[in-house]
Amino acid sequence: MKVEGKTVLVTGSTDGVGRYVATRLAEAGAQVLLHGRDRERAHALADEIRRRGHREPVFYPADLSSLAEVRKLAETIANSQSRLDVLISNAGIGTSQPGPQRCISQDGHELRFAVNYLSGFLLMRTLLPLLKASTPSRIVNVSSIGQQPIDFDDPMITKGYSGTRAYCQSKLAQVMFTIDLAEELAGSGVIVNALHPATYMNTTMVRQGGITPMSTVEQGGDAILRLVTDDDIGSGLFFNGLTQARANPQAHDRDARQRLRKLSFELTGLPEV
Ligand SMILES: NC(=O)c1ccc[n+]([C@@H]2O[C@H](COP(=O)([O-])OP(=O)(O)OC[C@H]3O[C@@H](n4cnc5c(N)ncnc54)[C@H](OP(=O)(O)O)[C@@H]3O)[C@@H](O)[C@H]2O)c1
Repeated sequence: MKVEGKTVLVTGSTDGVGRYVATRLAEAGAQVLLHGRDRERAHALADEIRRRGHREPVFYPADLSSLAEVRKLAETIANSQSRLDVLISNAGIGTSQPGPQRCISQDGHELRFAVNYLSGFLLMRTLLPLLKASTPSRIVNVSSIGQQPIDFDDPMITKGYSGTRAYCQSKLAQVMFTIDLAEELAGSGVIVNALHPATYMNTTMVRQGGITPMSTVEQGGDAILRLVTDDDIGSGLFFNGLTQARANPQAHDRDARQRLRKLSFELTGLPEV
């Protein structure tokens, strides 16, 4: 896919790998829709892109720990953009943000599940009509190789909580949703894939976790961009960087995907399809 003239939403583009991806897309001539919570960083990035002579991005602020804000974000985009060619669901929190303790979202859901997965589910489902009207279109779920099965008897991890467990189940949920959505969208012209961009990129998430970075933002960002631009990429796949990989076995368990789908419709209040 050539991104010139295409409209691309990058969630979590005020920082880290999302910021890099948004910058590269703007350089390639895309109309970039920026998203995050931090208005100052968003406006600084928009100014930088405009100063370099690229198409001015539009910033849509929203806190993904609130389903009401996600709904409003999706509605605002749907009402203000005539098309959406690519949705990169990248915003996320790490194993220890805002702290190592169990936190809940504004809707009472476990915070990592809410921000890293459930918000993306609601955003994508609400923006699907626009993506379908803009085919050929693409969805990229920025997940991780860090994956842990969801205990459907306790998906909000009220027992045996750890930030790592919560992060890893939220990242596996993204892959499960990717496979499920790809099946649903087969033949529609919308393709959806997930990836682990790179291991311990030098980003705020990694630095705040006290981890020494092992990869660059460019490495992970280029793996994300490749899922936007490469032809014949397939759909419903998981990539480790540039290589197609197998996700945690739970992602390939149809019953588990069905349980996650049902739970996600229930928690977001969307009518089940
Ligand atoms: N870093 C790695 O090595 C690595 C490895 C594997 C996967 N990943 C995945 O890559 C993605 C990006 O990570 P990163 O390392 O670039 O992280 P980062 O530098 O910490 O950036 C995170 C981005 O997400 C946004 N965000 C966080 N919480 C939000 C919320 N509640 N509402 C709205 N936006 C929110 C932040 O925006 P504001 O600050 O403006 O809210 C920021 O733009 C994540 O999904 C992460 O799980 C990263």
